[in-house]
Amino acid sequence: MKLIKKVRLKLHNGKKKVARISGNVAVKVKFWANVHYLLIDLSLYREMHGINSGIIAHRKRTIDGNTSFLRRCIHRIEKGLSSKNRRKKFAEQYILDAVIAFKKEFESKGFSETINWAYNTFTTYFEEVEHTPQIDKAHKLFDEQIVKLDTRLIDKREMIRAGMRNDITVTYEDYQSLNLRRRSVRSYKNQPVERDKIEKALSIALQAPSACNRQPFSFKIVENKEKLLEVGSLPLGAATFYEDIPLMVFAIGDLSAYEYIKDRHIIYVDTGLVVMNFILALETLGLSSCVINWPDVKEAEMKLARSFDLEPHEKCVTCIAVGYADDECYIPLSEKKKVNNVIEYY
Ligand SMILES: Cc1cc2nc3c(=O)[nH]c(=O)nc-3n(C[C@H](O)[C@H](O)[C@H](O)COP(=O)(O)O)c2cc1C
Repeated sequence: MKLIKKVRLKLHNGKKKVARISGNVAVKVKFWANVHYLLIDLSLYREMHGINSGIIAHRKRTIDGNTSFLRRCIHRIEKGLSSKNRRKKFAEQYILDAVIAFKKEFESKGFSETINWAYNTFTTYFEEVEHTPQIDKAHKLFDEQIVKLDTRLIDKREMIRAGMRNDITVTYEDYQSLNLRRRSVRSYKNQPVERDKIEKALSIALQAPSACNRQPFSFKIVENKEKLLEVGSLPLGAATFYEDIPLMVFAIGDLSAYEYIKDRHIIYVDTGLVVMNFILALETLGLSSCVINWPDVKEAEMKLARSFDLEPHEKCVTCIAVGYADDECYIPLSEKKKVNNVIEYY
C-alpha cells in the first residue's frame, strides 16, 4: 500500500508530460484508465476519500444521533402510511432502530423540526398499524421518549389528501414570466443585499424535493468584503467579476447523509434543486444572481475547506453570486434549446 502511494505521488507530482500522455491513452483504452486513475491522476482518489469519509461519519453517528438516518426512516414510514395499498403492518424490520434514532437525536440535539416531524409520523404509525411484538417494543420506547418532550413546542400535523391542498394561485404565464426574466447577471450595483431577503428566498428554496427528504445541504453566506475576496477568487469562472459581487452563497453538500456508495451523487441533485428554487425566489425579491461553477480543483477545495472549516465529506456543489443588477449591464442572450430538440417519447 505504501509503495503504491509512493509511486502515485512520484508520477503525479513529477511528470506532467507523462500524465498528459497517459490521460490521453486512458480516454481511449478502458484498461489504461484504471491504471491512470489509480497511479497518475489522483482526482478520483480525492473524491473517493470524500465519499468514504461520509460513509464512516454516517456509521459513527448511529451511536450519537444520526439525523439523516432518522429522516430516511420517517420518510419510509410516511410512504407506507400514504400508500394506496397500505399494508396492515409494515416497517417492522426497522421501526425499533428508527425509534432508537429518534431517542438519540432528541438526547443529543434537543427539539427540532426533525423531532417534530418524527413525532407526528410515529404517532400516526403506532395508532394505525397492526401491532406485533417488535412494533410493541418500539411503541413502548417511543412512549418513554415523548414524556420527555415539551408538548407545547410540537406543531401537531397530520397528512392531508392531495385534493385538500391550497388552490393553485400561480398561473402558467406567471411562472413563465418569472423564468424568462431570470437570467445570469454578472454586474451589480454597489448595494448591500439584505439578510432578510436571502433568508426569505432560502425558506422557499428549501421546499425543494430531496431524496428520502434527507436534505443533505447547508449554505455559507458570504457578505464580508474581505471574505468575499478570499473565497470569491476560488471558483475560476468568476475571475472577471468576483471583486464586485456583493454577496455569495456557497452550497455545500454533505456526503455523510449516506450509508452506501451508490448514493454518492444525490448531494448534487438535491442541492441543485434547492439552488434553482433559490435563484427564482431571489428574482421575485428584486435580486439577480449568477450560478458559478465549482470545479474539482484540489487547491481550491483545500482553501475552501480551510475557510469554512469543512470536513472531507462536505463538498461545495456550486456557488451563487447575488446582488442588485446594474441596470446598464448587458445580459447574454443565452438561447435555450427547444422542447422538440430534447425530448423523445416512448
Ligand atoms: C452549474 C453552473 C455553473 C455555472 N458556472 C458559471 C461560471 O463559472 N461563471 C459564469 O459566469 N457563469 C456560470 N454559470 C452561468 C451560465 O453561464 C448560465 O446559466 C448560462 O450561460 C445560461 O444563461 P442564463 O443563466 O442567463 O439563462 C453557471 C451556471 C450553472 C448552472
